[in-house]
Amino acid sequence: MTEARLEAWLDETRSFAPSADFAKHANAQPSIYDEASKDPVAWWRTQADRLSWSTSPTKTLEWDLPFAKWFSDGTLNASYNCVDRHVEAGRGDKVAYHWVGDAEGETRTITYAQLQKFVAQAANALSELGVQSGDRVAVYMPMIPEAVITMLAIVRLGAMHSVVFGGFSADALSSRILDSDCQYVVTADGAFRRGAPSPLKPAVDEALQSCPGVKAVLVVRRTGGDVTWVEGRDHWWHDIVDRQADTHTCESFPAEHKMFIMYTSGTTAKPKGIFHTTGGYLTQVATTYNLVFDVKADSDILWTAADIGWITGHSYIVYGPLINGVTQVMYEGLPDSGGRDRWWKIIAQNKVTTLYTAPTTIRTLMKWGHELPGAHDLSSLRLLGSVGEPINPEAWMWYRQYVGGNRCPIVDTWWQTETGAIMVSPLPGITATKPGAAMRPLPGITVDVVDNEGKSVGNGEGGYLVISEPWPSMTRGIWGDPERFKETYWSRFPGKYFAGDGAKRDADGDLWLLGRIDDVMNISGHRLSTTEVEHALVGHPAVAEAAVVGASDETTGQAIVAFVTLKLSADEAEKDQSGVIEELRVHVSKVISPIAKPRQIILTPDLPKTRSGKIMRRLLRDVAEHRSLGDVTTLMDPTVVNMISGLMDEHQNDND
Ligand code: WT7
Repeated sequence: MTEARLEAWLDETRSFAPSADFAKHANAQPSIYDEASKDPVAWWRTQADRLSWSTSPTKTLEWDLPFAKWFSDGTLNASYNCVDRHVEAGRGDKVAYHWVGDAEGETRTITYAQLQKFVAQAANALSELGVQSGDRVAVYMPMIPEAVITMLAIVRLGAMHSVVFGGFSADALSSRILDSDCQYVVTADGAFRRGAPSPLKPAVDEALQSCPGVKAVLVVRRTGGDVTWVEGRDHWWHDIVDRQADTHTCESFPAEHKMFIMYTSGTTAKPKGIFHTTGGYLTQVATTYNLVFDVKADSDILWTAADIGWITGHSYIVYGPLINGVTQVMYEGLPDSGGRDRWWKIIAQNKVTTLYTAPTTIRTLMKWGHELPGAHDLSSLRLLGSVGEPINPEAWMWYRQYVGGNRCPIVDTWWQTETGAIMVSPLPGITATKPGAAMRPLPGITVDVVDNEGKSVGNGEGGYLVISEPWPSMTRGIWGDPERFKETYWSRFPGKYFAGDGAKRDADGDLWLLGRIDDVMNISGHRLSTTEVEHALVGHPAVAEAAVVGASDETTGQAIVAFVTLKLSADEAEKDQSGVIEELRVHVSKVISPIAKPRQIILTPDLPKTRSGKIMRRLLRDVAEHRSLGDVTTLMDPTVVNMISGLMDEHQNDND
């Protein structure tokens, strides 16, 4: 989008006031901000009453910066809170999930009562396999109900799940299993993608060659067909789970009992195992789901279109919604499985009221044309959400107009794997919205935008986003590495949580998120570090050196551009450039995931470095985005940059 066009959108659509009708019935009333800010810690204690505690907490926050404990003398069971208590309250017949398969017409409807039985059976099976409180269980599954059932069964036993996105490679899976010493893996034979089976079990088999600590693998049959089998280690779900008793009495655990690990990319090659604990996490996901999505449990049908392999799926497909006792749509397929209007069909058929997705998907749907949503009845929708990356005003406006019929409020929700739950977002019915702005911190949350010295910036100024006060669902640390936790998040601005994002306060004091300011890229809402991709590239025998940058991309937000020097002589490389480039792209997708496949690889005899030998990524980003190259005086050999920008132009369309 050109700057001029962006301006035009912004001029036309500065701000949308909340509709009076929505405001009248909204869960949150404007006074909520004042109530919470008077005493945020006490306010969060009232929010904890959304949960069903075995022992009600008398303590609220114990803060030993940067380590927080919330509700520490309370006890509860996460799975009980999601499932059993709804059944006990007489809501067992309510649908928890309308599951929609990749193939059109394949659906499953699961009530809370059924979910309770499935979770009990899975918990019984996992304990038969040896899973105990405190154990770690890796989950590598497609978007099928068994994935949710597995997560709930694991936390029911007091064990921790570490869900690894099904699109990750065997290498990525094994390093995650090893880092947190998982002794169990739950997986499926495969997943369906646009009607075709895509195997998962072979990646598990490959990963486990380097994970001798894994004692048992539980496998759901999803796609059928042959799988290799390790006797004694591998167990079919239908053999073990189906024969279990469908009741399970659960134990309660302290609020600070460790609940799950979610790996995410930081600025180094090694992903960080972000872990969360029970009471604080569940409190904040329950509150934010209820307020941000204005949940009406009796009438809403909510669809978070994300994968359970990411934090969005954990917080807003599994825990937040289930605690609120709502009915959801859970979809297995891709946006164009069965055709490019699949999403609109799902919304119309299921009368979805609330849709939550990522800007990258909105931009893809937008590319396919507004005629597609226009041809379906989307009148059931009443609220739209966005998450994962800054949403550009054009995509926001399209979402509002063609999906939301100019009547649905849009909540642009900023948060992270580390924050566990939504932190910055408008509240529907209260906050006026601006296309592209996440607006303001939620009640009970204190954020700031600070300059280099850590001083708050004024309105109209930009800086770094920090979180100034502890919050219930904050990560309790990086698995096995408390020092790295302090160093990464708490050292840049002492006493404050440094999120890694740039932000701006506009003239009205509203917040705009501006993207990462570190070496973390955001590709289609997926977080990847430049170093991680560089690491994968230099792992290839032909590569001498690699520098990776995230360059802006119309659809995916950012795309990976890699500058690579080969070990081969220039002559050799010259002979088969496109062959080498393709091989490297496939290599990266194998080592990490197809998400990490560079959009473009530039082979170059040299990389620009500072006098101290650091690769100048900022400069390469400018080259990749065709910006004029600022100051290059610290550069060792400025001619390298000119040469690279020449190469870039030459190979502009090579990798498309
Ligand atoms: C990073 C966190 C939150 C669940 C999915 C991603 C970016 C996230 C927004 C938003 C602008 C956003 C940030 C953040 N981000 N939401 N609404 N506006 N940027 O979780 O993988 O932990 O990534 O995603 O850069 O730091 P994640």
